[in-house]
Parts: sequence; C-alpha cells; structure tokens
Amino acid sequence: MGSFVLYGPVTLRGKVEISGAKNAALPILASIPLIKGTTVLHNVPRLEDVHTMIQILRSIGVKVEWKGENTLLAINEGRCTGDVPYELVRKMRASFNILGPLTLSVGKASVAQPGGCAIGLRPVNFHIDGLEKLGFSVSISHGTVHATAPGHVDEGEVVVSFPRVSVGATEHIMTTAAGMKGLTLQINNAAQEPEIEDLQNFLNGCGARITGAGTSSLTVEGVEELQGCEYTIMYDRIEAGTYLIAAAATHGEVEVVNACSNHLGALLEVFEYMGVNFTCNENGITVKAGDVYKPVKIEVNPYPGFPTDLQPQILAMLSTVKGVSLVKENVFKSRFGHVPELNRMGASIVVEDSVAVVEGVEELTGAPVEATDLRAAAALLIAALMAKGETIISHIEHIFRGYEKVIEKFRGLGVNIVYEPRDVE
Ligand code: EPZ
Repeated sequence: MGSFVLYGPVTLRGKVEISGAKNAALPILASIPLIKGTTVLHNVPRLEDVHTMIQILRSIGVKVEWKGENTLLAINEGRCTGDVPYELVRKMRASFNILGPLTLSVGKASVAQPGGCAIGLRPVNFHIDGLEKLGFSVSISHGTVHATAPGHVDEGEVVVSFPRVSVGATEHIMTTAAGMKGLTLQINNAAQEPEIEDLQNFLNGCGARITGAGTSSLTVEGVEELQGCEYTIMYDRIEAGTYLIAAAATHGEVEVVNACSNHLGALLEVFEYMGVNFTCNENGITVKAGDVYKPVKIEVNPYPGFPTDLQPQILAMLSTVKGVSLVKENVFKSRFGHVPELNRMGASIVVEDSVAVVEGVEELTGAPVEATDLRAAAALLIAALMAKGETIISHIEHIFRGYEKVIEKFRGLGVNIVYEPRDVE
C-alpha cells in the first residue's frame, strides 16, 4: 500500500471541480442486470469502486466500456450469468446490491456475503429480509448468499418497513421491485439520501414507476421490462463537503464548483454556527474562511442529518478549534479509526459511547499515520494540511476509492502532495 507525503501548514486557495457521485453511480451500475439494451451514463467518476463494479458487470456478461473521460456505455443483451466472483465482491460491499436485479433477470444468483470493514460490521439482514418479502428464497452457506426469484409474481401490495434507515437496503429493494410487474412495493422508513433520488430518476428513465425517493415513504409499481436510457449522474456531495471542510480547516479561500447547497444543508448549518464564511451560487459554494471558529455539538444522522461520511473530516477540523466540541456518531457507532491517528498528530480526542469529545489544541504536528478507510484517509489528509511539519499517510490507496483525481485537485489548491506507491519506511 502506498503513502502520501506532505508538509504543512498549507492554506488552500483556488478552485476545485467536483466529480460525479460515487454513491449514486454504484447503485445505478448494480441495477444494470435488470436494464435491457444500451445504457449511457455521463458524469461517472473514475474511481476504484466504480472500476470494481465494472469488472463485476463484465464478469456476469454485461458489455461495459468507457466512452470518453466520464461517460460509460453498458450493454445488457439479457444473457447474464448468476455467479459473481468472490474476489470482486469482497473488495466492495456495495456490489451486494447486484443480487436482487441479477436474480430477477437470471432466475438464480449467488453473491458473496459482504464482510465487515473498518467502520463497522456492515450486516445485510435488511437486504435479505426485503428480498424475502418480495417472494425471493434466500439462503446463506459458506459465506455466500444464494437467491432464487419467485416463479411468478403475486399481484398485490408488499410492504417493507426497515427497522432502521438503510441506504443500501432501500436502494436494493426498490431496484429489484421495479422489475416485478404486478407487484406494488411500499417502503416505510426509507433512506432519504439524494443518491436515492438519483437512482429513482435513472430507473424511471428506463421505464420504472417509482415515487417518493427523498422522503421516508417510497412506492414502486413493478413493470414488465426496463430498457436502457441515457442519464447524467449527480455531483458528489461528500467529495464537495470534504473540500469545503479542507478549505475552512486551513483558513483558505476556495471555490468548490458543482457543490450543491441543497445537498449540504447540515454541513452549512455547522459552518454557519462555527463562523465559517461561505457563499452559495448556481456554480457552487465558495469558502472564505474566518480566523477563529466556535466549538460545536454535532449529531451524525441519516439524511438530512449531518452525514456520517463527513464525520472524520469535520473531526479533523475541530481538533484545533479552541474549546470543547462533541460529535455523536449515530450511523456507524464504531467509525472512529481515524481518532488514534489524529491524536498521534497532537489532537486531543476521546471517544465514549459513540461520542467523540474534542478538546481544541493550539496546533497539530506532522507525523507518520495510517489510513483505515476511505473517509479516514480524507480526514488525515485534512489534518496533514493543518499540521506543522511532515506527515506521511500510509495505506493511502483507500482515498482513491472515493476521490477522483485527488492528487491533481489538491495540487491545484496549492498543496505539494508526493505520492509514494510503496509504503515509506
Ligand atoms: C451507504 O452504505 C454508503 N455507501 C456509505 O458510504 C454511507 O456511509 C452509508 O450509506 C450511510 O450513509 C454507498 O452508498 C455505496 P446503511 P450502506 O445500510 O448502504 C445498518 C462511503 O464512505 N444496517 O445506510 O452500507 C448498518 O450497519 C461509504 O462512501 C443493518 O443493520 O449503509 C449501519 O449501522 C461508507 N442491516 C446502518 O444500518 C442492513 O442490512 C446504516 O447503514 C443494512 C444496514
């Protein structure tokens, strides 16, 4: 695994363009086995996770090729096979969402049961319960989930009420039901993330009949067949939030082009409270950071709450805000792998019962640290920009899973990042 080597402190200045959303592209790609014919997707980010999903689609018989920098062509001739290679699924849990669409289109399918990761156990029980409610039979053996589609679809309504909000389970079940003619699915306690609206808009572009995405109550009226369409993926609100936090944390001045303020309300509310100056317009959001920030209490919750995917990054920023800040993580209770690493850089953060208590310190100092997951890598990069001296972030490959052209983009903001493909001793 490689490393980033950089020297701080750095004040970010300039303009950065946000890419297409990873967490919108992945569920859309996972639906392709149900989408017959040719699909053209624009604004697809070139990320490790997207490459993994492309490999999975190719492995089951879908023709996928890049047409230009961020345009993807997927051709499903209706001859998919039902076995997804373990070594691909284990690389990325979002690939599990291919199970429902693939099973419905082929009759039977098997996908590896996703493992846990640095941010939590990541169970898929809601996905399996939802598929069974749709009439699928599901069994698990030797770490593989086997599913068989219902022989025929009983006309009528099925209700799935998730015990807690789940982005992936909402996307998985709504996508599968979209191709089940005669069935009407009502999802209660659905996730409300903007990426789910993007998925609804794509599927409806292919002939699906879905309403309610973006609210907690989703309705899907299954149709006979879904045909490929041309669609442009939304911009990545988490990438945008990461650059906004980096700009504020380094007291810089940065225009984040394509940042959509409608999708970043919770972060902008925190910025407002802390005294971060920012302006929003139709092109994006510009941060003209202030000097002194107020400490803050943040509750991390499902959308429209403060996003868990920005929790590590805001924690890095809070580490030098004078006073005591609190961040309560309500989505992934143990998503604090970045805390010991931030403390190695001089932060003073204690975690108790999923609450991070941050005592602001005078300054951070550079140190060798290790990235445990994608957003932790982003948090350590922000901390390295704030810190005095050299920081080496090892296991940095995590960051390439979710941040397109991250080296070029930060270099464009005045950061001299050196990428060592092998771990620096
Ligand atoms: C999606 O993961 C995102 N990934 C995550 O982004 C994001 O952190 C998460 O939603 C929450 O917003 C993609 O969209 C590809 P969940 P997902 O199901 O769907 C529990 C990133 O950095 N749960 O909403 O896996 C689960 O353990 C990634 O881009 C069950 O108990 O998250 C968690 O505590 C990280 N059983 C909570 O629900 C289930 O069957 C929310 O998880 C499913 C989930």
